[in-house]
Amino acid sequence: MDPEFRAHAHEIVDWIADYLEGIERYPVASQVQPGRIRTQIPDSPPLTGEPFDALLNDFKSIILPGMTHWQHPSFFAYFPANSSPPSIYAEMLTAALGAQCMSWITSPSAAELEERMMQWLREMLGLPAAWEGVIQDTASTSTLCSLLTAREERSRHEINRRGFSPADTFTVYCSVEAHSSVEKAVRIAGIGRENLRKIDVDEAFAMRPDILERRIEQDKGAGFVPLCVIDALGTTGSTAVDPLKEIGAVAKRHGLWLHVDAAFAGTALILPEFRHLLDGMESVDTFVFNPHKWMFTNFDCSAYFVRDREALVRTFEILPEYLKTREKQHVNNYRDWGIQLGRRFRALKLWFVIRTYGVEGIRSMVREHIRMGQELRQAMEKEPDFEILAPVWCNVVCFRYKPVSVHGDGQLNSLNMELMDRLNATGRLYLTHTKLNGRTALRLVIGQTSVERRHVAAAWDSIRRTARELSS
Ligand SMILES: Cc1ncc(COP(=O)(O)O)c(C=O)c1O
Repeated sequence: MDPEFRAHAHEIVDWIADYLEGIERYPVASQVQPGRIRTQIPDSPPLTGEPFDALLNDFKSIILPGMTHWQHPSFFAYFPANSSPPSIYAEMLTAALGAQCMSWITSPSAAELEERMMQWLREMLGLPAAWEGVIQDTASTSTLCSLLTAREERSRHEINRRGFSPADTFTVYCSVEAHSSVEKAVRIAGIGRENLRKIDVDEAFAMRPDILERRIEQDKGAGFVPLCVIDALGTTGSTAVDPLKEIGAVAKRHGLWLHVDAAFAGTALILPEFRHLLDGMESVDTFVFNPHKWMFTNFDCSAYFVRDREALVRTFEILPEYLKTREKQHVNNYRDWGIQLGRRFRALKLWFVIRTYGVEGIRSMVREHIRMGQELRQAMEKEPDFEILAPVWCNVVCFRYKPVSVHGDGQLNSLNMELMDRLNATGRLYLTHTKLNGRTALRLVIGQTSVERRHVAAAWDSIRRTARELSS
């Protein structure tokens, strides 16, 4: 071992502790101009090694200014990728072990802990007891796995064998508000972007089951083979929830595969008061949520659950001689449960997080985020020049500034983009936007591990002040 490893590792741990303690000193979103970091990095690699101190100094002076601080309590942008001390400990240990956990034999603990963690999560979310799960890197990968499995089950695994035939004219359905990863999966699965039907939504931005059914019937009549519906349990734009029961009934009536994308909002299901969102699970084939968004677990960690593990493994299993092992009958070889062969040991951080906080601890942190979201909604509702643009059922508030002096969505859109840019340029908070019904909505997502009411209050203060300065 490098004789200096211990001293260097201690130095890094000290730096991490100082960083997390003082994270509010940094601007939330990086303020650098494009190219600023690249120009500070030599064109060619060093021919001889450099000392640790040089690396750490350059990390501080070159890299840190170009980082957006996702663990900053005033990071309200996108969806969070929240982390926590136990998750960081586990990631350190994982890095130290450096294991590649493709098969049971390549690290039995990784495989068996993953099996248990998926059972724990299944129970925590109230998913059906017979389902099984596997950790994927991202929800995008999970959704692609679901679509590929649907395609193979429908073609009796013929597409894996011979490729597409002219009869494989599949169509896939999601709402106009579904995440772009659905379209990416449709493209990669060879189904074709033009065969993705984006179904209109209601006033709450949830998919309309009546329009879905009409479109499926129309496609059947035109000779297409409707394959799969993706139901969003919490859209990216506004956390809209597609009506699972009704969509499930449509999928069942027409023999379609049903995947639920709960990438962000799935964490809310840990709260018994939100379990009703799973009404309709009897029609669902696969389900994904990301502990790496809102469940205090470092990116990456996406929990993918399936009704039929055999269907999943039939889609992906390839067994060359060099991967054959004796234990196949008794263990899970997760290399066969997804796309990649090599796998990180991701279950360890889930184990550390769930054991450190306990289910009740996680529930109370998630409830607190939702409570802060509701308080912010109430505060905004009291201000006549602010408008809430989508229902707020959890910790995501979509709003716009709408002073009486500014008319028409075009001008309001520009005003709100300007407002967002000004707020983000302060470095004191970070918001992102979306469009809802053609209106620019600023999204404020309260899901940081260290966020407190004072951070939300300060953000709301800045928003009001900056908005009114802008229109005065
Ligand atoms: C609803 C939804 N689905 C899927 C994704 C993609 O997640 P990932 O980055 O894990 O692929 C996101 C990302 O924000 C999302 O909001």
